[in-house]
Amino acid sequence: LISIKELADVVLFDVAEGLAKGKALDIAQSTSVEGFDINLMGTSNYEDTKNSDVIIITAGIPRRPGMSRDDLLETNLKIIKQVSEGIKKTSPNAFVICITNPLDVIVMALQKYSGLPTNKVIGMAGILDTSRFKYFLSQELKVPVKNIDSLVLGGHGDTMVPIPNYTKVNGKLLNQLIKKEKLDEIIDRTRKGGGEINRLLEKGSAFYAPAASGIEMAESYIKNLKKTLPCAAFLNGEYGVKNIYAGVPVVIGSNGIEKVVELKLDKLEKNYFDNSIKAVRDLFEVAIKIDQELK
Ligand code: LAC
Repeated sequence: LISIKELADVVLFDVAEGLAKGKALDIAQSTSVEGFDINLMGTSNYEDTKNSDVIIITAGIPRRPGMSRDDLLETNLKIIKQVSEGIKKTSPNAFVICITNPLDVIVMALQKYSGLPTNKVIGMAGILDTSRFKYFLSQELKVPVKNIDSLVLGGHGDTMVPIPNYTKVNGKLLNQLIKKEKLDEIIDRTRKGGGEINRLLEKGSAFYAPAASGIEMAESYIKNLKKTLPCAAFLNGEYGVKNIYAGVPVVIGSNGIEKVVELKLDKLEKNYFDNSIKAVRDLFEVAIKIDQELK
């Protein structure tokens, strides 16, 4: 997607060097068909990624059917520790987008391990969750997805918070267009949207929608578009929450996260949001214990 949009030159990095080189070569060989003009390379050496503008991290194991994102914590925390150290040495000025699960805790660990400023370390989740919610709504209401505006906040787990009060279909509030039972069903399917794909694929997790979501964030940074996008960002008092990463609308421009947008939530939404924050905090406590064992 970066190539097709000609956003930047691309270095694919993997500990399995052949995989990174093979994928880079394969994509590079599509340049003349697709007609894009960027450079691609694969590597297992952080030096080759030196002074990157943007780093998108998908390193880690994906879920297998039946696993929750939280079950990945121990393995992926170890991997993220190594990745963070590599980034700190070679690209301390990059805008770093984390996709690795369990998302909110891993992005927080990444920021702490790398020591990069909180405005330059962000997690991809809300765009994906919102896009799933919009897709399911568009199927139910038989409306093109582009006519739906919506928002999913909170952690990227089973406690995520779709916000019907900020959801409009052709400019009309969603609540006027759908029965409560149907909406609850769609909210539940959205929360479990990643798991549904895991079950179907049996091996691996979703690729295309997470990729499109991460690239929208990268593009807003590279082109200074200042789009407001739901992402996992560090909260320092916004939404009454301090010192934790969670999904909220943020403005992304050339300074990274330029602003956390505070929306008014009703009592029920705020309760769901706080519940989601608690789930992230509890898992972060587990991460701290794992980290101490690693030392
Ligand atoms: C998902 C993974 C990427 O939700 O968390 O599909």
